Amino acid sequence: MNDNRGSFSSRLGFILAAAGSAVGLGNIWRFPYLAGQNGGAAFLFIYLLCIFLLCFPVMVGEIAIGRAAGSDAMGSYSKLGNKRWGYLGLFGILAGIFILSFYNVVAGWAFGYFLEISFGDLLNESDFGAFFGNYVNDISDNLFFSLGFMIITAVIVSRGIQKGVEAANKIMMPALYFILLALIIYSLTLPNAMAGVEFYLIPDLSEITAQTIFDGLKQAFFSLSLGMGALITYGSYVNKNQNIVSSAAIISVADTSVAFFAGLMVFPLVFSQNMSPTEGPALVFMVLPQIFHDMGPILGRVVGGGFFLLLCFAALTSTISLLEVPTTYLVDQKKIKRTTVVWSLALLIFIVGLPSMVSQGMVPALNKLSFYRDRDFLTFIADMCDITLTVGGCLMCIFIAYKWKIHNMDHELSIGNDGYMKSFLRKYLHFTISYVCPLLLGVLSILIILEKFIGLENIW
Ligand code: PFF
Repeated sequence: MNDNRGSFSSRLGFILAAAGSAVGLGNIWRFPYLAGQNGGAAFLFIYLLCIFLLCFPVMVGEIAIGRAAGSDAMGSYSKLGNKRWGYLGLFGILAGIFILSFYNVVAGWAFGYFLEISFGDLLNESDFGAFFGNYVNDISDNLFFSLGFMIITAVIVSRGIQKGVEAANKIMMPALYFILLALIIYSLTLPNAMAGVEFYLIPDLSEITAQTIFDGLKQAFFSLSLGMGALITYGSYVNKNQNIVSSAAIISVADTSVAFFAGLMVFPLVFSQNMSPTEGPALVFMVLPQIFHDMGPILGRVVGGGFFLLLCFAALTSTISLLEVPTTYLVDQKKIKRTTVVWSLALLIFIVGLPSMVSQGMVPALNKLSFYRDRDFLTFIADMCDITLTVGGCLMCIFIAYKWKIHNMDHELSIGNDGYMKSFLRKYLHFTISYVCPLLLGVLSILIILEKFIGLENIW
């Protein structure tokens, strides 16, 4: 490994950073609305199944590749495979750039809402649906807040792995759990909260449709930051004495628990106000502010401000990892100075995000893409990235099983884990990585592409 690259200072540092990458808008913004649209508990059930069967093995594989090669996503595939496989890493790096481009726009909304609820008078509005509609179309607010968010991300990443990425996650991750727990306790004490808990926890398996499975799988991959090399990159900074399998288990549990708890906070809130959980992407931006408004001026500011601060922390720990992936690539492969790379990438990605920013109504042509069933550009980019992640995960498993070879992964996983070679988990990982993941991820990825472009109703 190249000694100048730096590394995480401890196991905890790595786990917090990787969990920080995983915990993000996906958990607190996207998970509750997808669960709301897909029958609540039925979605939770499918989601957990995907994590256990498909995501955990992919996560272990990604970290093993990164640590074995000690390089960025492209460098790792090239080193353990060949130059052609390196393009898979490059494909992931590009996907990360596009994810960050739209993710930063949504993070900017959360940042703006945090500031305007805590210190402005957003909660005095009378129609939060209309407010959100105007908000996403206000170019100056959008430019200001999403640029601000990108600058904060760049400042942290430019400080390097230990002083930047690890240090920021060590502060923000515990803070995030603390705010989340406080909000859950509060929301569970509201009248009618138990109806929300029931909707969320008691599955009606008849609610499971093909859409539930597609959404559950996409969400699980996105939420665990899999399939695009983020964990190859972070894995490349992990010391050899660490137990990868148990770290991956802790990261998966940490991420899944935040998504689970976010649902446990959001549904009681929504049901306590007799609102609908099926609002979609607008759920946290339109429905929740109404609830905070109804709490009265002071409590609303505290609880609402706390919620959007939580969303900002979650988003920031993820944008850091998204920027770190291409940064590590350029520093490792092109030997450019980290600060130069970070600031150039931040500017470039901000510019790439502009079409997503103006696609919510400001530019009508981007608001309704005719080739994409009249959906907007931000949704288009987000959907394409989802597909890239499941395809990337599928190809990564094929790479491990049939190119790098599974015994090499075994060797990497046994370093820092004495009992691994004789464990049942080893057999489980062999079976899932060699057969289950390539097959299921391959088939599901194709179905997801068809669903996106021609619609589910036209597939069957
Ligand atoms: N896992 C993040 C979330 O749930 O919001 C999103 C994400 C971050 C995806 C980093 C991919 C990635 F590399």
